[in-house]
Amino acid sequence: MAQVALQVVKDNGVNTEELVQKLVRAAAAEFTTYYYYTILRVNAIGFEGEGLKEIIEDARLEDRNHFEALVPRIYELGGELPRDIRAFANEAACPDAYLPQNPRDMREMLKVLVEAERCAIRVYTDICNMTFGKDHRTYELSLAILNEEIEHEAWFSEFLGEGPSGHIRRGSPGESPYTSRFLVAPNGHQKV
Ligand SMILES: [Fe+2]
Repeated sequence: MAQVALQVVKDNGVNTEELVQKLVRAAAAEFTTYYYYTILRVNAIGFEGEGLKEIIEDARLEDRNHFEALVPRIYELGGELPRDIRAFANEAACPDAYLPQNPRDMREMLKVLVEAERCAIRVYTDICNMTFGKDHRTYELSLAILNEEIEHEAWFSEFLGEGPSGHIRRGSPGESPYTSRFLVAPNGHQKV
C-alpha cells in the first residue's frame, strides 16, 4: 500500500473505503462489459451488423484498458480485487450487457450498448465528483476514462439515430486517447 498516497487523500476528507468500493465496482463493470461486448461484437454481422462491429470493438478494447488502468489505483488506496471472480462480477456497477433475445436485432443490440455507456458515464461522473480537488490521481484517471465513455455513448447514440455526435471512430482499434498514458506495462498491454 502506498501509505502517504493514501494518507493525503484521507487528510483531504475523502472516505477512502467508500472510494475503493466505487473503484472496485467500476473495475468489475469494465471487466464484465469487456466480456459481454465480445459476444456483441461477434454477433454484429451481416448487412445490419457489420457497420457496428468496429465501434463495438473499440469500446470493448477500451473497457479492458479501463480495467487495467483502475487496478493499480485500487491497490494504492489500500483496496484489492475480490478473490473470487463471481463475487467480483456480482459487484459490477453496471448491469450485464446481454446479447438480445434476437441476436440479429441490431436496434436492440444498440440499446444494450448505449445503456452500458450511459451507466459508465454516471459511474465516472460520480467518482470525479467525489475526488475533485481532493484525490488528484483518482480524479485524473476517472476523468480520462469518463472522456472515453462519453465518446462511446456518442458513437452508439448516433448509430441509433439520436442525432449527430460530432465524433468519429478511432484511428486504430481501442487506442484509448485519454487513458493510454495510464497503461505503463510494456509487455502485452495496450499502449499507444
Ligand atoms: Fe469503460
